Amino acid sequence: MSDIRIRPLLCGSGVFFALLASFMLLVACQPSKPAPAEGSGPLVLANAAVDVHSYAKPNTARVRHIDLNLTADFKAKVLKGTVALTLETDASARQVILDIKALDILRVTDASGAPLKFSIGKADAVKGSALIIDLPQGAQKVIVSYQTTADTEALQWLEPSQTAGGKHPFLFSQGQSILTRTWIPTQDSPMVRQTYTATINVPRGLKAVMSADMLTPDGEAVAGQSGMRAYRFKMDEAIPPYLIALAVGNLEFRNVGKRTGVYAEPVTIRAAASEFEDMEKMLEAAEKLYGPYRWGRYDVLVLPPSFPYGGMENPRLTFATPTILAGDKSLVSLIAHELAHSWSGNLVTNGTWDDFWLNEGFTVYFENRIMEEIYGKERALMLQALGYAELQETLSGLKEKELQKLHIRLKGRHPDEGFSEVPYEKGAAFLRMLEAQFGRQRLDAYLKGYFERYAFKSMTTEAFLADLREHLLRNDRALEDRLQIQAWLYEPGLPDNAVAPVSRVLKLVEGEAAAFSQGVEPDMLRTSDWETQAWLHFLKSLPSDLSENQMEALDKAFNFTNSGNSEIRFAWLKVAIARHYEPALPSLETFLTTQGRRKFIAPLYTELMAQPGWGVEMARRVYAKARPGYHQVTRDTVDKIVS
Ligand code: BES
Ligand code: ZN
Repeated sequence: MSDIRIRPLLCGSGVFFALLASFMLLVACQPSKPAPAEGSGPLVLANAAVDVHSYAKPNTARVRHIDLNLTADFKAKVLKGTVALTLETDASARQVILDIKALDILRVTDASGAPLKFSIGKADAVKGSALIIDLPQGAQKVIVSYQTTADTEALQWLEPSQTAGGKHPFLFSQGQSILTRTWIPTQDSPMVRQTYTATINVPRGLKAVMSADMLTPDGEAVAGQSGMRAYRFKMDEAIPPYLIALAVGNLEFRNVGKRTGVYAEPVTIRAAASEFEDMEKMLEAAEKLYGPYRWGRYDVLVLPPSFPYGGMENPRLTFATPTILAGDKSLVSLIAHELAHSWSGNLVTNGTWDDFWLNEGFTVYFENRIMEEIYGKERALMLQALGYAELQETLSGLKEKELQKLHIRLKGRHPDEGFSEVPYEKGAAFLRMLEAQFGRQRLDAYLKGYFERYAFKSMTTEAFLADLREHLLRNDRALEDRLQIQAWLYEPGLPDNAVAPVSRVLKLVEGEAAAFSQGVEPDMLRTSDWETQAWLHFLKSLPSDLSENQMEALDKAFNFTNSGNSEIRFAWLKVAIARHYEPALPSLETFLTTQGRRKFIAPLYTELMAQPGWGVEMARRVYAKARPGYHQVTRDTVDKIVS
């Protein structure tokens, strides 16, 4: 049975609809027990979508709930224990197929502990293997005993020296896109939503947190193991498995607002709480736009600096890089972004990784609406303009046409290959085009309805188009053609009705960059009221033939090399490499060896490798030193750059 919901063409609404729905559900799917209620809304009819990145066959045997019982062994750097999977099976089901990768499967039993036969399929470098478990007639639960391995990509085990505090080890997971299968044997497809419960045993002195309701904030004693504490969790909403997340470390918590707070290492907690002080306001702004927040609390966990992403929208607990702690709230659009995913992504989820833009494009649009609400129109426009410029750069650099499309066919490839500005910024540009055509009021009403109609469901591009036709385009084919909807969703490039954002402030910045390149001294530039986004645009607007003297003058006036703002420092270091500006190289080395955010790390190595001689030499030398400290996600990307 599918979570992808396609509206039947023939029926109306109300009671008749409900009766017809349950009748057709039974006929179509013949589940061995009644399907759990999935909220009101359109009917599950067919599942045309196929997730090419999962071995699971959820239409015959589907994982509905997982119960984890794991112990974190910081000496061996493994998680070990059991996962009990609650299944929903077709009457004919004789097997259940799970996804696994780099896991040691020790034993599989039924609910009573009786062993079950299982086999492991051939390993694929991207997808891992199928774990095929034989099911006794009517079985609704299987229990897998397992442990993670040194090759488990989702987990990073940090030495104390790799944390901000330096005294305690740390562990965190990163599930998106297809890494959950490297630490939990389950059906690792965004179409297979699952609820979960977990008990995590950790050494005393450390705290475990998860993307769930935290039932035991201070942990509990573990019988017979005096050095361990148990933490229990519960996620009652069905979520895609890539959102199951765990972190263990020396963590403190601080409230920010009624429903919002931060977790961080003690040395970081104050900075985090003040940087994110607008979180509660963001949450209220988001609700005002697109309906109630459905997850209870919204907290942010600030990770150690090797966290490979800027942020990850794990439900109830966003994971975030410490590199956004700028001290002046100038980089908090990232929090708005991860918060927005509580609707676009977590509530309505991309059905397959080919539909990734449905998560990220909607989220970038939504993020910007939150930013506008709280920090004003001009700040929002600056962010839009910066994103749009990056999109254009990306599109002109992306030779492969397939990767310029919103809906991408990723069969046979890693979902990561589809990761670029395209799903993010082209997706957002698509919604801004709709906003320009229909007006905010109508688009907002549509989006709010969309989140309601498909709450806790998975969505494909095709099903989205069907919904858009029905609820926004009113089945007007001429209008659809005029708006070039097909081209937006399924063609490369950028249709000509895209709306280029114009920021008044960034225009002024361009003027100052031009003045500088024509010889005006840096001190004479009108920069006194510039915010971070203006500086970023300034750095991108500098001519490519800056002299050593000009670089020095800029650095002397604005101290870019030692900027405490990670985005500004990153933008400057890129310029510095291209111009071989030596005074910045020690700062570059420090930056590459003290944080592991892929978005910063990968482009800097790419720039270095483009400099024959000194650049290549430096890239190799620094990478040899830094690689052990990076998360596997960052390593995989940089391995391909530095080789
Ligand atoms: N969900 C993404 C992170 C992600 C995407 C992880 C694909 C793994 C695979 C997250 O919401 C995100 O987009 N993070 C961005 C920051 C955001 C402000 C654009 C990042 O990490 O740079
Ligand atoms: Zn995102």
